[in-house]
Amino acid sequence: MANSITSEKILVLDFGSQYAQLIARRVREEHVYCEITRHDISATRVREIAPKGLILSGGPCSVYEEGAPQCDPAIFDLGIPTLGICYGIHQMTHHLGGRVIGAPSREYGHAIISLAKSSPLWEGVSQSTRVWMSHGDQIATLPEGFEALASTDTCAFAAMGHCSKPLFGMQFHPEVTHSDEGRQMLRNFLYNICGCHQTWRLEDFARLVIDDVRAKVGRDRVICGLSGGVDSSVVAALLSEAIGDQLSCILVDNGLLRKNEAQSVIEVFSNHFRTDLHVVHGADLFLEQLAGISEPQEKRRRIGHAFINCFAQEAEKIDNAKFLAQGTLYPDVIESGGAPDGPAATIKLHHNVGGLPKDLNFELIEPLRDLFKDEVRRLGIQLGLPEEMVWRHPFPGPGLAVRCLGEVTREKLDVLREADAIVLEELRAAGWYRKTSQTFAVLLPVQSVGVMGDARTYENALAIRSVCTEDFMTADWSRLPYDLLAKMSTRIINEIKGINRVVYDISSKPPATIEWE
Ligand code: XMP
Repeated sequence: MANSITSEKILVLDFGSQYAQLIARRVREEHVYCEITRHDISATRVREIAPKGLILSGGPCSVYEEGAPQCDPAIFDLGIPTLGICYGIHQMTHHLGGRVIGAPSREYGHAIISLAKSSPLWEGVSQSTRVWMSHGDQIATLPEGFEALASTDTCAFAAMGHCSKPLFGMQFHPEVTHSDEGRQMLRNFLYNICGCHQTWRLEDFARLVIDDVRAKVGRDRVICGLSGGVDSSVVAALLSEAIGDQLSCILVDNGLLRKNEAQSVIEVFSNHFRTDLHVVHGADLFLEQLAGISEPQEKRRRIGHAFINCFAQEAEKIDNAKFLAQGTLYPDVIESGGAPDGPAATIKLHHNVGGLPKDLNFELIEPLRDLFKDEVRRLGIQLGLPEEMVWRHPFPGPGLAVRCLGEVTREKLDVLREADAIVLEELRAAGWYRKTSQTFAVLLPVQSVGVMGDARTYENALAIRSVCTEDFMTADWSRLPYDLLAKMSTRIINEIKGINRVVYDISSKPPATIEWE
């Protein structure tokens, strides 16, 4: 889809760096469209795509290592401006006749580079600036025609550029925020060297996606599963704009949602967007399925089956439904190994509970598959979704069942739901909701002695979990103020019957996970 909507494009060749997606996001933040592609994309294919520039990402390998990913060396002869970052500069050096060696010790962390020569890459950059290094190799000999553009105490060629061709390399990572002037360097590459014009606008994107969806769907009907989460809400809002009453949404209320969650989704989508909304009241069925089950994977399996059954049964009632809309995002597309340019762009159908099997016999519509999460959020706001919905913390498909350890019962869910609501209410009131990535309550299968008034109690313990993270793969526990934690704890113990102890989880991921289950 992106091909039809953007004339100016940067390609990031992914050599396996944890930062490849970050590079692409940084470029898009500059209003320049950017896609990630396989590292070994052929020069012929690159010429067909005709990007304004190429960025070779970092990667975990050493260029001389057996099986190390290699680019097609012919890409350097295309005359397309190219920037190699970390492993990317090693690729450039290696293929153009220079020499890379293992550094005496792996350089990881901050370093100060000194600019060695003026360059369009350095416009507005200080003579001496702090950058982020993360590499085991460095350049020993520059390839012919290149000159050093910057150095550090331990690295003579921290940046290089060709004397007459638009080829540049950086040993450090300009894309991470730890490189103080990295953003300016990337801007310089995009504007001064690639000649980009900041043509990428989310508004235009939305308009073109809407046209595309209309053309594809014709007079048929599209089904969209709503979960209350950001992605499915934005898909539904976008489709509602595109095809209006040809959209049918299904919300499966599994009884495992947060307090008032189903109601707020219903309110937004039946009042505000006037969608044909089907709500499946499945709480009893899900609880029946969960009775007597404590093992986490078995809980997930049963919830997954129940969800699919409810969804499929409801979908059958909707006439002329040919399409199923999904909230696949760009990171899902990349993680599935199917960079959009690749020959086998397989789509990751969400492996987690809450996903649907392929054999439902619908054609898929994935209007967000070119977008990153932050872009999806901005789009949601543009489409008129409430802030609260757009900035909602992630919530697992199996819902509160994940956070109710041991057997799930209606009573336990009620306790957990109320405690969770208090945690979120206080978090919002204290202005901390947007400062954390995910915050919630967990009902522990632990009972202990307490004292209330003159009486001894023997009741449950509840944990509060709050994390900060960019990618949810690693996370740190949030340093919530003591006063806020105190308020949450006091309210939970006073207002909810059945809890006499509240603890705060101070473990990071890894080794812990974000959820407890
Ligand atoms: P963990 O606990 O693995 O969680 O550190 C990482 C992130 O994934 C979310 N999560 C899920 N999301 N369906 C989802 O849509 C699921 O089954 C599921 N399980 C975990 C979790 O909330 C956290 O944001």
